[in-house]
Amino acid sequence: MQNIRLLLVDDEKSFLNTIAKRMKKRGITAEQAVNGEECLTILESQPIDVVVSDVKMPGMDGISLMKQIKENYPDTEVILLTGHASTQDGVEGIKAGAFDYLTKPVELEHLLGKIQQAFDKILYKHEKKKEAEYRAKLEQQMIVTERLASIGTLATGVAHEINNPLAIIKEAAGYMGQLLKKKEAEGFAYKKQFELGISKVETGIDRARRITHKLLGFVKKNESVSSDVDVNELLCEVFELLQREALYKDIQMVQDTGDLPFIIQTDPYQLRQVLLNLVANAIHATGAHGNITVGLKPEGDKSVVITITDTGEGIAKENLKKIFDPFFSTKSPGQGTGLGLFVSNNIMRKLGGTMDVESRLGQGTTFFVRLPRQMNTELRETKQKGTWENVKNQHNDTKFKI
Ligand SMILES: Nc1ncnc2c1ncn2[C@@H]1O[C@H](COP(=O)(O)OP(=O)(O)OP(=O)(O)O)[C@@H](O)[C@H]1O
Ligand SMILES: [Mg+2]
Repeated sequence: MQNIRLLLVDDEKSFLNTIAKRMKKRGITAEQAVNGEECLTILESQPIDVVVSDVKMPGMDGISLMKQIKENYPDTEVILLTGHASTQDGVEGIKAGAFDYLTKPVELEHLLGKIQQAFDKILYKHEKKKEAEYRAKLEQQMIVTERLASIGTLATGVAHEINNPLAIIKEAAGYMGQLLKKKEAEGFAYKKQFELGISKVETGIDRARRITHKLLGFVKKNESVSSDVDVNELLCEVFELLQREALYKDIQMVQDTGDLPFIIQTDPYQLRQVLLNLVANAIHATGAHGNITVGLKPEGDKSVVITITDTGEGIAKENLKKIFDPFFSTKSPGQGTGLGLFVSNNIMRKLGGTMDVESRLGQGTTFFVRLPRQMNTELRETKQKGTWENVKNQHNDTKFKI
């Protein structure tokens, strides 16, 4: 009760003082106003939960005051006090939006009970509002998820259909290229232009194929296989596959995963695709002489977290929400399809995991890949094959720091 913000309005000062004093004894502090105008001034300056107002007052009466309160402060509840002979005022007040009315002389206990009920109503309305907001947010999220799912289905369907004609175009372009190389074509006036045209067609096809292959990687969702996967070994493979690009930019690839094989049950092909996408993105975002660190840690008994941290350009706040959308890319046309993270995020969901990102513009980015460790997950003794040690030995002469 002490937390209720209360305002008493009555032109009879002595009545106000008596009630306020008795409330104070109970630890309740109430604001006081001697007329409607003063009440509205107080309401302008501070939030009030419950107003207890006399109906009969000179100037603005209690009912007009209550109407103004309800119009401007709909969350505030009003209890009216009427004279003994004018219960009709109270009934009218309720019709016009008052929480309730009491007839004077009021009994303090009774009044306090009513105030508490009015406050409970406010809390209930507040809870309802929060629940409605939460539900609206959830619905919004579902719309987004469904939208992405349908875009995914549509895009993968299109990719499937496009693959065949692409193969035919590629073959035809290759054949035309071969014809142009023949002796008979030597004197052909537009030979150069044709060669240029064919090479442009081939570049275009390669780009289109990269897109369809990425999408089709995502379509293989139902063919997933689950087996014992050494995440450490998988990370080695990923580093090996991408090392050329990293070496070219003199990027240090640092392993912070421990030496032991780290076995979990998952789909190795799908997980490799995710890690390849993430490390490739990190390399693209990192300037010369930067660092990329890969971490691998158990999180409790049930999950494992792989982190890929780069010292690259970072991601702008407004882009953080969009990077998992299909076709979102900040890379120049031809450099990125904008499907890497979309596909990876969907794969993670299928693997029962999650993907999160933290980034600071100009400082770097960390992607967190969380996967469930299943029943037979265990840390086994070091195997010789495919450990970081092996990769290090293989690339001793490189900048590959492991
Ligand atoms: N490590 C990172 N640092 C900075 N930006 C990143 C990083 N990873 C992703 N991004 C941003 O997210 C965008 C989307 O990444 P995503 O992998 O989906 O597509 P992409 O790399 O542009 O193209 P591709 O489909 O070829 O992978 C990138 O264009 C880039 O702006
Ligand atoms: Mg990418």
